[in-house]
Amino acid sequence: PADPLVIFTPSGKRGRFAKGTPVLTAARQLGVDLDSVCGGRGICSRCQITPAFGDFPKHGVTVKPDALSDWNAVEQRYKDKRGLIQGRRLGCQATIQGDVVIDVPPESQVHKQVVRKEATVRAIVMDPATRQYLVDVAEPDMHDPTGDLERLKRALCDQWQIDDLCADLAVLAKLQPALRKGNWQVTVTLFQDHRGGPAQLLDIWPGFHDAGLYGLAIDLGSTTIAAHLCDLTDGQVLASSGVMNPQIRFGEDLMSRVSYAMMNPGGAADMTTAVRMALNGLVQGLTTETGIDPALIYEAVLVCNPVMHHLALGLDPVELGQAPFALATSDSIALPATQLDLTTLNDSARVYILPCIAGHVGADAAAVALAEEPQKSEDLVLIVDVGTNAELLLGNKTRVLACSSPTGPAFEGAQISSGQRAAPGAIERVEIDPVTKTPRFRIIGIDIWSDDPGFAEAAAATGITGICGSGIIEAVAEMRMAGILDGSGLIGSADQTGTPRCIAQGRTHAYTLWDGSPDGGPLITVTQGDIRAIQLAKSALYAGARLLMDEMGVDKVDRVVLAGAFGAHISPKHAMVLGMIPDVPLDKVQSAGNAAGTGARIALCNTAARAEIERVVHQITKVETAIEPRFQDHFVAASAIPHAIDPFPELAQ
Ligand code: FES
Repeated sequence: PADPLVIFTPSGKRGRFAKGTPVLTAARQLGVDLDSVCGGRGICSRCQITPAFGDFPKHGVTVKPDALSDWNAVEQRYKDKRGLIQGRRLGCQATIQGDVVIDVPPESQVHKQVVRKEATVRAIVMDPATRQYLVDVAEPDMHDPTGDLERLKRALCDQWQIDDLCADLAVLAKLQPALRKGNWQVTVTLFQDHRGGPAQLLDIWPGFHDAGLYGLAIDLGSTTIAAHLCDLTDGQVLASSGVMNPQIRFGEDLMSRVSYAMMNPGGAADMTTAVRMALNGLVQGLTTETGIDPALIYEAVLVCNPVMHHLALGLDPVELGQAPFALATSDSIALPATQLDLTTLNDSARVYILPCIAGHVGADAAAVALAEEPQKSEDLVLIVDVGTNAELLLGNKTRVLACSSPTGPAFEGAQISSGQRAAPGAIERVEIDPVTKTPRFRIIGIDIWSDDPGFAEAAAATGITGICGSGIIEAVAEMRMAGILDGSGLIGSADQTGTPRCIAQGRTHAYTLWDGSPDGGPLITVTQGDIRAIQLAKSALYAGARLLMDEMGVDKVDRVVLAGAFGAHISPKHAMVLGMIPDVPLDKVQSAGNAAGTGARIALCNTAARAEIERVVHQITKVETAIEPRFQDHFVAASAIPHAIDPFPELAQ
């Protein structure tokens, strides 16, 4: 009779195997994605599968109850000691006895997909550079005088088909005690670079060791640094944390930090020290919060703009402050974490920094491209990563262009008279009645409007403290729609607007959003200076987008993606009323959340993605805003609200 037919789900892969073949062996031969750390020794339980019994007309088989072997001693011991979910078997121990349908649950797949909250964007497929292997090493022999590392190499080649291995001194020191304590069986953590070369031994333990493997995805921004602690076996984010970039004390924006480095001997080094200390502090916070041993963090992926990139690496950023804005290197960088003084990770941990696109468009923009994939888009998409420095990508599968634009910190609530960072108590949403000119608003942390019953009680805990970036954008757009502000951005007087909320301030006017002064609270107004700051920021953003559109030879785009921690909170309608982004139908404006951070996570979890982005950045054309005269023309025209020249037909509807 024919050998039993084995069908794996969900892959649908099938083949015939001799009776007695372990399920793991059948899976490997068919290329079914079934995990294993212990190499089939019945220790790690990563190979769990679920056999299905009964009739399967779809597959043309009937699976009998004895289609898999009975539990052997190894499998039984595992079940008794550690337990197995009802219906599960260890794929390395259960052998095939008859036709069978075998389901591989997601957690048993190496290349499992990580579920993401943002439904519109690509899933992360696990393919990490750092993995663990259990390996049996030959004992040394007087007649075969090889080193322990060489015998470990041979064992890895025989048992895991890993051809070459290198180890730095920190881990080499652990090798001999681990081998002897484990009675020549050890668990190794290996880093395998996507560009090839020998696997790197990052850690070693006696016997089987399954303490965990962790990595960090870090978005190093000029204003904030955000880090996600991820499980490298399943891609889940265990904790996220953010801190202010301490370099702010050397300069608010990128160019002022470059100037600081130019003017002050040792200035760049001071900024390098500051950011590295902040990174170590972030890691400490994340490991304390989760209780995870920092020595189990083996990798970090860093995305950042070019100035942050150079300062983190300890490279002088002065060349980035002047044309032609040459980077020390635009290629991706892989190096030991100790070279960046990241001492809070494992001693052998590795850091990967995504490639930069050009002197003003950094690894953060590359990460956005990795997350949003404009290079694969059928329609023409404009991706705007809004920050102190906005980075823009425009393109489709034929061509992608990139530029950056100096928006300044106004969109983050800085340089705004009542501005503050997004935190409880900050006004984040604003509506103004066009007839009465009366505002209503919402503050962060409270999900009712200021004129809803119960608002005062709910707001008492935090107070109403100021206005954050999304709040100021909505306020300015609403003021324009209510006629408080004219197209040039001038706030009218009380007489002109018919509301006493417009108060005189010297020769200009300010609009009162909230007057908490009778109760000792703040007076929150939108001043003429605030309007000017927002006009400058939005003109820079729009001019960047228009420059890319000119270069592409188009006068409209099909869709807009707003990215960045702040971009996610911008209301598309208000962004368009302000003229921050080109005119598109409102349902064609999406929010992508922190796309740069997502790109960092993708690169952390998937080595193929590192190779992909290294290839993609070479295909992206950089457009330089700083030396392009048309940028100035666009900038001036874009100062009007929404725009002096460009039509906004969608807005009219
Ligand atoms: Fe490790 Fe089956 S492969 S328990």
